Amino acid sequence: MTAERAPVGARHVAIIMDGNGRWAKKRHLPRAVGHQRGVEAVREVVRAARTMGLEALTLYAFSTENWRRPEEEVSALMGLLKRYIMADLEEFVANNVRLRIIGNYKSLSADIVTLLDDALARTAGNDGTTLAVALNYGSQDEIARAAARAAAEGAITPEAIAAQLDTADLPPLDLLIRTSGEIRLSNFLLWQAAYAELWFTDVLWPDFTPAHLQAALEDFAARERRYGGR
Ligand code: IPE
Ligand code: IPE
Ligand code: MG
Repeated sequence: MTAERAPVGARHVAIIMDGNGRWAKKRHLPRAVGHQRGVEAVREVVRAARTMGLEALTLYAFSTENWRRPEEEVSALMGLLKRYIMADLEEFVANNVRLRIIGNYKSLSADIVTLLDDALARTAGNDGTTLAVALNYGSQDEIARAAARAAAEGAITPEAIAAQLDTADLPPLDLLIRTSGEIRLSNFLLWQAAYAELWFTDVLWPDFTPAHLQAALEDFAARERRYGGR
């Protein structure tokens, strides 16, 4: 299937889905409602990535720093994650979507680990769009783990580290999107973003639609990537 895709445009897009809290605050709603609406945006954007034929979409769902949030918010986020995977797993299976998790998800609660392991196993053979969810993910943690593994194998070179990153089986990152007007990476894909194109929007994540993704991809297509050459 991969060979049938048009070779133009972005292969791998990643998104820092930010602004759920501000979206809720603007409407005098609890933050959890913002996160719920954020899941709706995820669902539509994942569908769009699939119908657009993206090879990989990586979504920043929970960072290693997000543990600093109140326990109530952390458990609301974990509950939403669980419900999203449970609700959409059959759709992934039916539509050839391969689920991947990046980050230290094995240290999450046992019920989530079991659910994710099952979802990973059930979609492992799919070769359509890969949906990579970054969970308990921090890029510095990822690079440190990768460097330790590279060292254990004898060579700390950029290639050896890259081969040990959580994203090693994904295409190179082409486009990194962040919503909500913040212009920072917040410990997301620091290594992989070395030559990615960056796209920032003030749109808050729950308001982000496939049309915004399309706009980002159109901007991407018009950019000239030079990788240091000339
Ligand atoms: C993004 O929305 C969701 C996660 C970080 C999990 P936020 O919760 O960070 O929303 P803001 O930044 O407070 O608006
Ligand atoms: C980044 O958003 C993490 C996720 C989207 C999961 P944050 O809201 O946590 O980032 P900061 O704290 O504003 O940098
Ligand atoms: Mg935020």
